[in-house]
Amino acid sequence: MSQSNQQAAPRTVLVTGAAGGMAAGINQKLIEQGHTVICADLIFEKVQAEAVRLKSLEGNAFPLELDVSKVDSIRSALQQLKDQSLNVDVIVNAAGILDRKSMADHDDESFQNVMLVNLVGPFNLIRLLSPGMVSRGWGRIINISSIAARNGYPFPSYAASKAGLSNLTRSLINDFWGTGVTVHNICPGLVNTPMADPRLIENAEKRIPTGAAVQPEEIGQAVVFLMQDAAASLNGSDFVMDGGVTSYFQLFER
Ligand SMILES: NC(=O)c1ccc[n+]([C@@H]2O[C@H](COP(=O)([O-])OP(=O)(O)OC[C@H]3O[C@@H](n4cnc5c(N)ncnc54)[C@H](O)[C@@H]3O)[C@@H](O)[C@H]2O)c1
Repeated sequence: MSQSNQQAAPRTVLVTGAAGGMAAGINQKLIEQGHTVICADLIFEKVQAEAVRLKSLEGNAFPLELDVSKVDSIRSALQQLKDQSLNVDVIVNAAGILDRKSMADHDDESFQNVMLVNLVGPFNLIRLLSPGMVSRGWGRIINISSIAARNGYPFPSYAASKAGLSNLTRSLINDFWGTGVTVHNICPGLVNTPMADPRLIENAEKRIPTGAAVQPEEIGQAVVFLMQDAAASLNGSDFVMDGGVTSYFQLFER
């Protein structure tokens, strides 16, 4: 099949965390495929700069200030989209924070903060945006989870939030039954972004069977694929993109 046959119809995609490292690759791939990207993140100047970069690639992009941890911010952002007659076909929940603390190091609020950004935010965004998708009979919800959702991990607040996000995704299959809206988890391993520990990236060949960290553009390719007709039957699966890390017990010294 030729590349053009595989392209999805042009869609409007809301990407949260759009000023981040992984979203840069996701936005790029979406624009290359002719989709419109709404770039949403905490600081307006940063998403404005990202929208300018995407427009310089002949793309259609809009900046949107959004704090996913606050439902008032979500409501006000969605009102701005309504005012501009922008209907969202696809949500990519990529906003996230990693608090590198063991349980003992957490204070009274820090666990909750991680949950608010990584789990409560996506829940509220999906809850408030998906009725439009359902009424138009088509939608894709793509949650950037993590391999930390699937295995134990040294930072329990992050792992718990991503495990919650992954199972939220699977559970929403019921809400969207027969509506044309499907849900997906992308579970990256180590991705080359500011969030990743540089020491892990440096020693990637010893830790990752494929020998390298994942590039943000590879995550973007997966997002683009999930929007294609060829992916219409995929629903609720985890797309594990970790170079083989979680499939192999590394008991032996390499
Ligand atoms: N980098 C990795 O190795 C890796 C691995 C697995 C999963 N992930 C996940 O991928 C996603 C993207 O991470 P990244 O690597 O690009 O990190 P990043 O730190 O480069 O980007 C995260 C973005 O989220 C934004 N953000 C934080 N709190 C927000 C809020 N309340 N509202 C709106 N935006 C907010 C930040 O401003 C930032 O631009 C995250 O959900 C992360 O948990 C990353």
